[in-house]
Amino acid sequence: MSDGTLQITPLAPALGAEIGGVDLSGDLGDGVIAEIRQALLAHLVIFFRDQDITPKQHLAFARRFGDIVSYPMVAGLDDYPEIVPVVKLADENHNFGGIWHSDTTYLAAPPMGAILVARELPPHGGDTLFANMALAYETLSGGMKEMLSGLTAINSSAKDAVAKSREDRQKDMDDVPEPLVSEHPVVRTHPETGKKVLYVNIGHTIGFKGMAMEESAPILKFLFAHQRRDEFAMRFQWRSGSIAFWDNRSSQHYPLNDYHGHKRVMHRVTLAGDVPV
Ligand code: SIN
Repeated sequence: MSDGTLQITPLAPALGAEIGGVDLSGDLGDGVIAEIRQALLAHLVIFFRDQDITPKQHLAFARRFGDIVSYPMVAGLDDYPEIVPVVKLADENHNFGGIWHSDTTYLAAPPMGAILVARELPPHGGDTLFANMALAYETLSGGMKEMLSGLTAINSSAKDAVAKSREDRQKDMDDVPEPLVSEHPVVRTHPETGKKVLYVNIGHTIGFKGMAMEESAPILKFLFAHQRRDEFAMRFQWRSGSIAFWDNRSSQHYPLNDYHGHKRVMHRVTLAGDVPV
């Protein structure tokens, strides 16, 4: 059982909560982990402040929620290959993943979530936006829900904006992976909450199965605009010691690229997910 010290403070109507009263560097009991998991399911993205954790403790915390998977497109840290450095250097233009997306939906089983630790932040800027895709689904009309219910989305790792956002991190890699493609239902059911979720994203979704690109494009254009409406979203301002943990099945995120001339370094650990249905 939890010792009852967790403080869970919602940060926005749509999603997001800050969790206080826990030190993630420590050995946490099963009750505390269960409470954190419940908070993640309820709020879709949870945040911890003023944490001081080593890469080893980052991995140990992540393992309490499932298996860790490697990220297919960028190498991990030399000493901790399961930790992906999310970096933008002062002289670079693109930030990693700098567009609304759900992580790696071009994989057959995209991640259930990711835990991102702030390691070096710009003096200001570099916030991350998050949005609730269950709410995005709920607020569609009955007619649109009906039309989407039978559709399958094609997701690719090679869409231009995302591919560009990784180029700086791939320049020292010997073998840059071939593009990956995967098909998933446009509306998936969250495996733990049972909620329906709008599961397309502008970062990776290229079209609908069985439709010409010209037919898919206007529907996707509408869905991409709908799912980033302000009332489905929240904005997280990082500080030294901040950690975010998002449910990748029901949320999307968008790291802002507004800190040119400054360095930003984050460490990401990704958790295995299941095949969307
Ligand atoms: C990511 O998409 O994993 C990066 C998020 C961020 O840099 O805030």
